[in-house]
Amino acid sequence: MENITINSKGGLSGVINIPGDKSISHRSVMFAALASTPVVIKNFLYAEDCLSTVSCMQALGAKIEKDEYNHLHVLGQGLYGLKEPENILDAGNSGTTLRLLSGILVGQSFFSVLTGDASLRNRPMGRVVTPLTMMGGEISGRQDTKFIPISIMKSKIEKIHGIEYNMPMASAQVKSAILLATLFASSPSIVTEPYVSRNHTELMMETFGVKVERRETSVSIGPVAELHAPTEINVPGDISSAAFWLVGATIISNSHLTLKNVGINPTRTGILEILKEMGANITIENQRLSGSEPVADLVVKSAELKGVIIEGPMIPRLIDEIPILAVAALFAKGQTIIRGAEELRVKETDRLKAVASELGKMGAIMVETKDGLILDGPQKLKFADCNSYHDHRMAMSLAIAGAASMGVNIYQPDCANISYPNFFTTLDSIRM
Ligand code: S3P
Repeated sequence: MENITINSKGGLSGVINIPGDKSISHRSVMFAALASTPVVIKNFLYAEDCLSTVSCMQALGAKIEKDEYNHLHVLGQGLYGLKEPENILDAGNSGTTLRLLSGILVGQSFFSVLTGDASLRNRPMGRVVTPLTMMGGEISGRQDTKFIPISIMKSKIEKIHGIEYNMPMASAQVKSAILLATLFASSPSIVTEPYVSRNHTELMMETFGVKVERRETSVSIGPVAELHAPTEINVPGDISSAAFWLVGATIISNSHLTLKNVGINPTRTGILEILKEMGANITIENQRLSGSEPVADLVVKSAELKGVIIEGPMIPRLIDEIPILAVAALFAKGQTIIRGAEELRVKETDRLKAVASELGKMGAIMVETKDGLILDGPQKLKFADCNSYHDHRMAMSLAIAGAASMGVNIYQPDCANISYPNFFTTLDSIRM
């Protein structure tokens, strides 16, 4: 589809089953592929990013099949059972596939090459290559190994070793790459972040029998001989996907949505806390555990919002929700300041620039700072032609901005398939 037009209509109403969490879906396949007993993954996210992980793990020798109930069956050959891929591994648009897989591959006794699409080829890889090289990995790549394609040499007779590493940024992908490499190392690693990022890797490691020690912003694990897989993993719904409906139902009057089965891991619930601080009407119902991940149903109704400051340890807890929070801020009374979010400049696109330019085309006025945005609200938006920059979260944020105002025409909307294949049909089905 070249473009999609979203019209201005009434409120959002209904019940939505939120599709599986992207971060947890990636990890479930990777870990299951490193185990030696079969794992059934339920509510797996069949979106382009996670399918990139599936095809890479298949190329590394894991048997992976989807059944008629949409469950994903994974059979690995054990922690040391991966085989040399015959071809280049393609992570597509997926930073998580690329960075986590690099951690796994650095510990293997075979050679591999990793690449990705045009966006991923421009995203920083040095942040992963630096610690993996300190562990004894041998990696070379484009532009002094700052960018992919990268090649990872067969690990030497003496294994890679653990490290004590202070990460320069809060990044679950970097943390996870080091932890995954440590599984294959000769000694433990301690990783410290400036602020805690999502902890799905740590939780999944525990589920697979790895002892994880966590203290404030540090995580430590040691090497293991094998992983002990659960027979089944239930992937919670993705709060980052739910975020579009949380904001949409809040800012579009006469809305009332129930969002079923949403992951509410505290490292991900920044969006709930900030929207509540802004005045949103969200209730958390039916809280339960799905394996080691907490989940709940969320009920959201329209509400008047006020501006808020988003900074510090909150940033990694809502990093992927900042584009849609910028939309919320345009409908809120008063000023919203987002700072310390320079990581957004190295996502699927430069999201600070994209938010300012595309919402700007709809008439929004905001200041783009080096590490954030300053927005005064409420503002009136007008119909405009906007570009997604092939960034799924941009496309979906623009759709909600248009649905809440005078409509919008979005170019390259198909990128929503990266994380939320049914986003536009769901939007259509809940509009009154
Ligand atoms: C992810 C971590 C975050 C996030 C991305 C998914 C993960 O990236 O933005 O969408 O699954 O580990 P960083 O680790 O680069 O912050």
